[in-house]
Amino acid sequence: MISQKLADARAYEERYGNAIPKEKRPEYHLSPYIGWMNDPNGFSFHNGMYHLFYQYYPYDTKWGPMHWGHAVSKDLLHWEYLPAALAPDTEHDNAGCFSGGAADLPDGRHLLMYTGVISTDDVRKNLQVQCLAVEENGEYRKYEQNPVLDQSDLPEGSDPCDFRDPKLTRKPDGTYSCMTVGRNANGLGQLLYYKSPDGFHWSFDRVIVENDGTYGKMWECPDYFELDGKYVFLVSPMDMLKTETFYSGNATIGMVGSRKEDGTFVPEKVLPVDYGLDFYATQTLLTDDGRRIMVAWMQNWDSIMDTGEDMPWTGSVTVPRELHVKDGHLYQTPIRELESLRGERVFIEKAEIHDPVSFEGVQGRVYDLTLQIHPSDGQFSKFDIRVAEQDGIYTSIVYRPKENRLAFDRSSSGTRRSVAHIRKMHNIHETEDGLKLRILLDRYSCEVFINDGEQVMTHRIQTDPSIGGISFRCDGTAVVDIEGYSLENA
Ligand code: FRU
Repeated sequence: MISQKLADARAYEERYGNAIPKEKRPEYHLSPYIGWMNDPNGFSFHNGMYHLFYQYYPYDTKWGPMHWGHAVSKDLLHWEYLPAALAPDTEHDNAGCFSGGAADLPDGRHLLMYTGVISTDDVRKNLQVQCLAVEENGEYRKYEQNPVLDQSDLPEGSDPCDFRDPKLTRKPDGTYSCMTVGRNANGLGQLLYYKSPDGFHWSFDRVIVENDGTYGKMWECPDYFELDGKYVFLVSPMDMLKTETFYSGNATIGMVGSRKEDGTFVPEKVLPVDYGLDFYATQTLLTDDGRRIMVAWMQNWDSIMDTGEDMPWTGSVTVPRELHVKDGHLYQTPIRELESLRGERVFIEKAEIHDPVSFEGVQGRVYDLTLQIHPSDGQFSKFDIRVAEQDGIYTSIVYRPKENRLAFDRSSSGTRRSVAHIRKMHNIHETEDGLKLRILLDRYSCEVFINDGEQVMTHRIQTDPSIGGISFRCDGTAVVDIEGYSLENA
């Protein structure tokens, strides 16, 4: 038997989610079945399929009491909706089923670990505890002994109202671990590590790393793993202050570093994971062939835009990205499976660009465009790429080599909202081949990968998806190799 709350959510999905036509959704990014999505959750490979759950409120395009939506895929690009997995329907999660992770049990069942939010008289004092749900024939049954971690499992001084987002891992020796975020007595984020012999019985192990106030205040959505001989810690801090490297607001930072003998983490390089306005709350998984794949919520609490009355859904997940560490730096590239969606190749070698120009075959809103901009050598100071363009509506990506700057600007994209629309990156550099940009367009987004994923910028755009012009212009002469593929009807 499922609860009335879960049954209601599913009935709503069937009725309104199924009515959304395919062309009113992204082509290869996951959007919610219906209504609102924020963080991806429970990203895992289970029973021959990738599973992606998400923070979900089906009944509105705004955040509300959190459910978990659910989708599965064979290639991480084509998603099939399954009925909502969790609803806030027990005394341990009556104010919401917040973010969490997933792993397999030894008998092959899927185990979800999520944060249950327990309401109190003052919403700011709602308690956060960690709960389990165990799969039985495709249904996720909440564990009778929930919660499995509560305030008695916190280190001294940590705040029981900010204890969330467990990242669950089944280790090679068959035991389990989980990492959650906490808030210490100074009001700052901490990464807490818990151990379990079987996934059900948990005990506190240690604090892995703590915020000294450099990176925002509270932290959210942690992930921590070994990659290419280094340790990587991903976390989304709230309330960042602007610095030379970071913007203010909610950010996602990647720390690459090493692990001390006592199990604590020493960061060596700390950078934004993504420089765009619409990126937050990462999750990763390790594929069978050893790739560390990352996804994130393609939005941010600071960049939420009203999607308009006729939009039945809001929020989506970034393109899945393969992570690597090279020379102590975190690189991300779109998963290689994306190449299998490519249509016919269009290639223009050494195009000389000055006056506004478009190229036959290089257009569309579901498009994979790679530009190799040859070394600028003082030949121009501004190279401008416009996408989703028609009759004065466009989104631009502007490269200014003399200022080492790349700017994304969606203020002319047809938006009627006044949230931030421009992001500038000031640390762009050319290699001996110049600057390489891979621009992934889908109906509602634009992701820019710079120099093979050394830096990335992710944005949503709200331009009508039928608008698909792409043009180039330059104030001097830029020499550019242009390679493009449609990804539509893939
Ligand atoms: C991050 C977050 C998480 C929380 C969830 C609630 O975006 O605030 O910390 O679990 O969203 O929806």
